[in-house]
Amino acid sequence: MRSTLQERVAFGSKEGPSAPTKQPGTTNRTLLHQQQLHPPSALQLKMSTPLFDPTLISSEVASSLPDGYSIRPACKSDYSQFLDVLRVLTTVGDISEADWAERYDWMAARKDEYFIICITDDKEKVVGVGSLIIEKKFLRNLGIVGHIEDIAVSKDQQGKKLGLKIIHALDHIAEKVGCYKAILDCSEKNQGFYEKCGYKHAGVQMAHYYEKK
Ligand SMILES: CC(C)(COP(=O)(O)OP(=O)(O)OC[C@H]1O[C@@H](n2cnc3c(N)ncnc32)[C@H](O)[C@@H]1OP(=O)(O)O)[C@@H](O)C(=O)NCCC(=O)NCCS
Repeated sequence: MRSTLQERVAFGSKEGPSAPTKQPGTTNRTLLHQQQLHPPSALQLKMSTPLFDPTLISSEVASSLPDGYSIRPACKSDYSQFLDVLRVLTTVGDISEADWAERYDWMAARKDEYFIICITDDKEKVVGVGSLIIEKKFLRNLGIVGHIEDIAVSKDQQGKKLGLKIIHALDHIAEKVGCYKAILDCSEKNQGFYEKCGYKHAGVQMAHYYEKK
């Protein structure tokens, strides 16, 4: 059976939020007993603490995933699987687990600013990721803009509408936290994908890259 730790991070699956998975013949009493015998350690709990409030995950998106797949906030324990999916998108670099943990903690401390989500497959492997970053402005009466970033689906999982679900889930969060719009940059080859997700071409992206001195 899945461990207590995993049950705590099993958000947004078809089973419903936080629903423990029971093996056939396992009673609620047995589950409770097993949880009491193997309570998660402080470190396990810290590693599994989600980056943001899991109730922000759209139940509609969660229930539309393929069987066995789940959607949830990123967790600190996602380290290597998360970075492997990101490598589909671009260079990630050689990031140690300590580096990852430091950046994760930095993001987690900026509450309500970083919303990073993962889709996991039926083996609980991370197969899709996406980020929404919140920008608070003065204009538009202290308007809030969402920036969609770093969307990636593992090569062997592409074409299953997981990318679409990631965008819909991030759109849902953006609306819930009060954004008046969400924007993103993409290469021309991905324009069609974002159009399928409901995005419209608007403006021109400009970039200035800085050399490391
Ligand atoms: C782009 C990416 C996120 C799409 O994810 P995906 O799960 O394979 O796409 P989906 O199955 O959700 O596709 C949804 C729809 O968009 C279409 N689509 C997907 N990629 C497309 C593309 N590059 N151009 C045009 N349409 C595309 C699909 O055909 C599908 O259309 P349909 O609803 O008519 O069948 C994924 O291919 C990927 O990770 N690519 C590498 C990283 C990357 O480029 N990320 C984007 C950074 S801007």
